[in-house]
Amino acid sequence: MQYGALVDMQAPAQSGVASRAARRDAWPLPALAAWGLGWALYAGLRACAAPDAAALAAGAASGVVLSVLGGTRSRRFIIALGFPMSLLATGGAAALPAWAWLLPLALLALAYPLNAWRDAPFFPTPARALDGLAALAPLPDGASVLDAGCGLGHGLDALRRAYPAARLRGTEWSWPLALMARWRAAPLAAEVRRGDMWADDWSQHALVYLFQRPESLPRAVAKARAELKPGCWLASLEFEAAELTPQAVLTCDDGRPVWLYRAPFASRNESAAAVPSSSRPRRR
Ligand SMILES: C[S@@+](CC[C@H](N)C(=O)[O-])C[C@H]1O[C@@H](n2cnc3c(N)ncnc32)[C@H](O)[C@@H]1O
Repeated sequence: MQYGALVDMQAPAQSGVASRAARRDAWPLPALAAWGLGWALYAGLRACAAPDAAALAAGAASGVVLSVLGGTRSRRFIIALGFPMSLLATGGAAALPAWAWLLPLALLALAYPLNAWRDAPFFPTPARALDGLAALAPLPDGASVLDAGCGLGHGLDALRRAYPAARLRGTEWSWPLALMARWRAAPLAAEVRRGDMWADDWSQHALVYLFQRPESLPRAVAKARAELKPGCWLASLEFEAAELTPQAVLTCDDGRPVWLYRAPFASRNESAAAVPSSSRPRRR
């Protein structure tokens, strides 16, 4: 097993952890900023004689977009729902028809559909997280790489940095995220499909990249075992596939591991005897 930069990256890892902690400490600033923007849009549009429902939709949409700044699911809901809830509480839009209040919820459901919550909420791969990936998982030029659940396309950005000559594809369940990812991915020459990543055929890809919830890993492993061709890679940011032995582990600049598994996959209990436990990275 190869470990990428596990020792050398200790200092940047600590600063990455520190910067994540600093971002957490900035709470509730993202919420206050999002609510302020929601109110500013609402008041501005009403001042321009826009219909109340359109002003509410614009304010609520800004909250949903900015909810990506919330590091946890509950914070994302607080950011997204703060403006419409405060409008409701102040009675500021008493004239609005009842259906108009469904708009913020509909926007939220579009951005975070239920099955995407089950697999992973939106949370992007940092820009430089995959630098060094190509050294551990080398691919030929033109190899196909899939970001399964590509969100807004940040993983595609990081993959493009790692594999400048790869053919990049992303699949995203949420309509608005897929639309935005397609727009962001155009300069990267990456294709984005709106759909279910579990319905994709992984046999055409040389590497499948995942940044999902730990609970999704067993399903991904089963799919990778069934579909990835020998020599192809499954890469998972942060979350380990407990049943597999990694071929290599990259440590990102923020200290998180990228677990790399190569087909045909070795089961952990098959190879546990061959790998001393003291040389394995700590499981999360
Ligand atoms: C943690 S985000 C990662 C986004 C991107 N891969 C990145 O690393 O920046 C996970 C994304 O997976 C999407 N997702 C979850 N389940 C999905 C599914 N079954 N099919 C397609 N996308 C899915 C979510 O909507 C979310 O945008």
